[in-house]
Amino acid sequence: MLLEVRDLHVEFRTRDGVARAVNGVTYGVDAGETLAVLGESGSGKSVTAQAIMGILDTPPGRITGGEILFQGRDLLKLREDERRKVRGAEMAMIFQDALSSLNPVLTVGDQLGEMFVVHRGMSRKDARTKAVELMDRVRIPGAAARVRDYPHQFSGGMRQRIMIAMALALEPALIIADEPTTALDVTVQAQVMDLLAELQRELTMGLVLITHDLGVVADVADRIAVMYAGRIVETAPVHDLYKAPAHPYTRGLLDSIPRLDQKGRELYAIKGLPPSLTSIPPGCAFHPRCTTARDLCRTDVPPLHEVTGERGSACHFWTECLHG
Ligand SMILES: Nc1ncnc2c1ncn2[C@@H]1O[C@H](COP(=O)(O)OP(=O)(O)OP(=O)(O)O)[C@@H](O)[C@H]1O
Ligand SMILES: [Mg+2]
Repeated sequence: MLLEVRDLHVEFRTRDGVARAVNGVTYGVDAGETLAVLGESGSGKSVTAQAIMGILDTPPGRITGGEILFQGRDLLKLREDERRKVRGAEMAMIFQDALSSLNPVLTVGDQLGEMFVVHRGMSRKDARTKAVELMDRVRIPGAAARVRDYPHQFSGGMRQRIMIAMALALEPALIIADEPTTALDVTVQAQVMDLLAELQRELTMGLVLITHDLGVVADVADRIAVMYAGRIVETAPVHDLYKAPAHPYTRGLLDSIPRLDQKGRELYAIKGLPPSLTSIPPGCAFHPRCTTARDLCRTDVPPLHEVTGERGSACHFWTECLHG
């Protein structure tokens, strides 16, 4: 495994108490593999990613348990200077909002080039050449001329390509993309996603793709991890999960996708809201919203049960769900 997160716990001290944002997340991704991470807003997807990247806000955040094994080393045991070397060179992150992630007062050429100057000790001139190559690689038309432009001179889609170029600059083994296309027009979303997927394959990188878009997941992901209230509730190869979910929450998510063959039918939505992270319900955190919950679900936290063939479900009654 390229990346293995084991039983990760992250909490935030807030005015309302301790928010348990991540409560024992376990997931992994191999080289050349895409893991999609799915779940409602506030389920801990980004916080887990920030912990992996080592960019968590501490305080108020605090990692209270677990391991993050990357190429065999536990990142949580590295010194900050060692950690900094890993970040950017060996793993990189792509954010939703390129405009606030790129520096507005530097040309994109200088920003891309900076990676090579700082990490590879290149001259400014060579770094500029590398920057143009990268812009070509993410298919920015007229790269050689546009290398002197500033971020605001690019369209949203082109800016997101520049973000991808930044992330890929040093050919990291792992990319974490946190809703990389959410801020873009629908027509541009698919192009940017296709580009990312293509480069991921070409460079056999591991990709952790955080997304709300189940359509994207079906197209590009190999495996999927579904999060709820800071835990993984189900993990499976994508096609197995689409065919038959092994957790009621996953089933609810799948049932709420609009389907062309059922036009006009009212769209299903999971009832209720995710819990407050300062007071997560006892037992299965999903039980107040689950249509099949019973006594055991209200008292006992379900472990991630092993379901056949590389699948896991944190439902006491996963067999019923799978076959029901
Ligand atoms: N800087 C912070 N300070 C305090 N609490 C935070 C902070 N960042 C995250 N949290 C808490 O962690 C929870 C999970 O946040 P996270 O950003 O991981 O959600 P998410 O799954 O990425 O949601 P979304 O789909 O909206 O991006 C939040 O609901 C919030 O309670
Ligand atoms: Mg998020």
